Amino acid sequence: MSRIRKAVIPVAGLGTRFLPASKAIPKEMLTIVDRPTIQYIVEEAMASGIEEVVFITSEGKSAIENHFDYDFQLDTVLNKKNKTGLREELNKISNLIDIVSVRQKKPLGLGHAIWMARNVIGNEPFLVLLGDDLVMSDVPCCRQMIDLFDKVQESIVAIQRVPMDQTNQYGIVEGKAAAIERTYKIDNMVEKPALGTSSSDMAIIGRYLLMPDIFDYLGRATPGHGGEIQLTDSLMELAGRRGMYAYEFQGKRYDAGDKLGYLKAVVDFALRHPTLGQDFKEHIQKACEKIG
Ligand code: UTP
Repeated sequence: MSRIRKAVIPVAGLGTRFLPASKAIPKEMLTIVDRPTIQYIVEEAMASGIEEVVFITSEGKSAIENHFDYDFQLDTVLNKKNKTGLREELNKISNLIDIVSVRQKKPLGLGHAIWMARNVIGNEPFLVLLGDDLVMSDVPCCRQMIDLFDKVQESIVAIQRVPMDQTNQYGIVEGKAAAIERTYKIDNMVEKPALGTSSSDMAIIGRYLLMPDIFDYLGRATPGHGGEIQLTDSLMELAGRRGMYAYEFQGKRYDAGDKLGYLKAVVDFALRHPTLGQDFKEHIQKACEKIG
């Protein structure tokens, strides 16, 4: 049985929805309470048993690589000041996980970004976590997917139900319930279908567990919706060839690459924070009373 050891995290997108904030700072580095979005995502991968992360990066995203690097100077200062807890926290990720970066020279689309990881991934199934998609859950979303993979041994996309008038903003899957709870065998998949053209409300979110055959399709993919090389088009080919499952994960997903999605994540993560949560809740309650 295959073990899932590697995860690809594409962060090479332009982040136009978050301008002007994302002009000089990668949107993945914007802070949610006390750490950047990308750290939550890497922590989810780690908590799911991933040993190696492959960032797909672009010009202007070096802050992401630096964030996960060992900082000798900072470590020495914290050591002198006896800030052991902080030192351990900072060094935890760089010690526990290997990070590799691959440059996507042009933002040709998510499908192209994943294809850039082919040499590092090789011939084993792997995870994809989008660098701006956050999931809050008791069991990490990727862990839930790996547990399902142990049973089905085929590719899986995580999905959530969305209102029918928003289906044109997502990749939508159509399929039939499988024998396993919250799991569907995929029949069809469309990237951002025009409203009224699909009867499904199952929207793909930024977590995928893929068989390495996906690279065969990505390698010959042509631009699709929006002129970009879409991952969904190659997923559909893979689903047709060897089958694929949609999994309605347990938890809540936030699109942290979108201004409102990001604000919702900040509030929800702050309310749950072990030391700041209570004070923040009181502040929010007072603020809500004020605006009526
Ligand atoms: P998005 O659709 O969020 O695109 O990409 P974006 O460019 O980052 O942001 P907007 O829409 O302009 O605001 C989904 C994921 O795919 C990555 C992004 O970094 C994000 O994690 N991506 C997208 C790439 O790595 N390369 C691309 O060419 C396109």
